[in-house]
Amino acid sequence: DDTVRLSDMAKQMGVKAQDLIKTLFGLGVMATINQSLDFDTASVLAAEFGYEAENVAFDEQEYLLPPEEDSPDSLKPRAPVVTIMGHVDHGKTSLLDAIRKTNVTGGEAGGITQHIGAYHVKTGRGEIVFLDTPGHEAFTTMRKRGAQVTDIVILVVAADDGVMDQTREAVSHAKAAQVPIVVAVNKIDKEGSNPDRVMRELSDLGLVPEAWGGETIFANVSAKQHTGLDELLEMVLLQAEVLQLQANPDKPGRGHVVEAKLDKGRGPVGTVLISEGTIRQSDSFVCGMVHGKIRAMFTDQGQKIQEAGPSTPVEIQGFDTIAEAGDEFVVVADDKVAKRIASIRLGKHRDKELAGKAKVTLESFLASR
Ligand code: GTP
Ligand code: MG
Repeated sequence: DDTVRLSDMAKQMGVKAQDLIKTLFGLGVMATINQSLDFDTASVLAAEFGYEAENVAFDEQEYLLPPEEDSPDSLKPRAPVVTIMGHVDHGKTSLLDAIRKTNVTGGEAGGITQHIGAYHVKTGRGEIVFLDTPGHEAFTTMRKRGAQVTDIVILVVAADDGVMDQTREAVSHAKAAQVPIVVAVNKIDKEGSNPDRVMRELSDLGLVPEAWGGETIFANVSAKQHTGLDELLEMVLLQAEVLQLQANPDKPGRGHVVEAKLDKGRGPVGTVLISEGTIRQSDSFVCGMVHGKIRAMFTDQGQKIQEAGPSTPVEIQGFDTIAEAGDEFVVVADDKVAKRIASIRLGKHRDKELAGKAKVTLESFLASR
């Protein structure tokens, strides 16, 4: 970014912002105190006051730790991140609840399950992280913001209802994101349920069951009666094996915000799903336009932890304000760097907003004539 805000420039030069605005006006440039000036304009303006402008563009990339190439042996297996999608009332929430209930590690210290927007489940064959945001909107919003955090989609289809509008929508979202789908045919306990029909209808959408020579994994479940859940989780882990999910845990941590809110007692908190590296207590970080220092972090079981590696969802305290879901969370060298990057991003954001407003004003001005 090699622009400078007029007010900052005035400060640096020790002159009044009004004088800069007047001088610019004399040069035929209309400007306001919050205006960002490009380097050429700033140079001419500086010259008018006997200064020479130097382009010391601040590039946040210089301050962010460079994204290292991970050597093959630095990569370790990581747990799959799963999002549950499907049509209204087909049983997404029930399925999540059933999986959670049957897999909560009993007797663990502080075993009160917290709602942190993501949680992980231990099975005999491995761990799975569930994103507790079953909604196409959340999925799409995150993706639009460049945060592809889901490895596998569990598509829930009620066996008594079959493929519906939002089932099709979910399929197209998952396909667009190139995320593999595992189908959970739910409510098989219900009278009139017809899993075969679901298979046929999904085959028409290109999800052909393995049993029929296709590549899509299907599992029959009942969230209500807790049947077929182990098989479903096993299928998910099987699919995960195919994906060979890996990450390097031995570097500064990065991840994405899954959920963020203001907690009355604890201030701004956010659930971050770590994608690579390891985050530690007292790490400084930036997260979109927000910065902070990890004051404390907790698992979905409410346990306080000191560090968290790839595919771990953690609730973090220490954000300066509320972050946004989908924002990338990046550990940086220290507080100063974190603040600097956050303020640069905020500045850019404001410039864009101002530019947007100026345009609207001009347009409405023209329209009014
Ligand atoms: P939305 O969040 O509104 O989209 O719904 P959902 O997909 O989360 O469905 P939810 O889990 O709320 O279940 C909808 C209804 O179906 C509830 O009344 C559940 O009790 C019922 N239900 C869910 N799973 C089963 C099941 O396996 N068998 C039967 N018989 N009923 C189920
Ligand atoms: Mg629900």
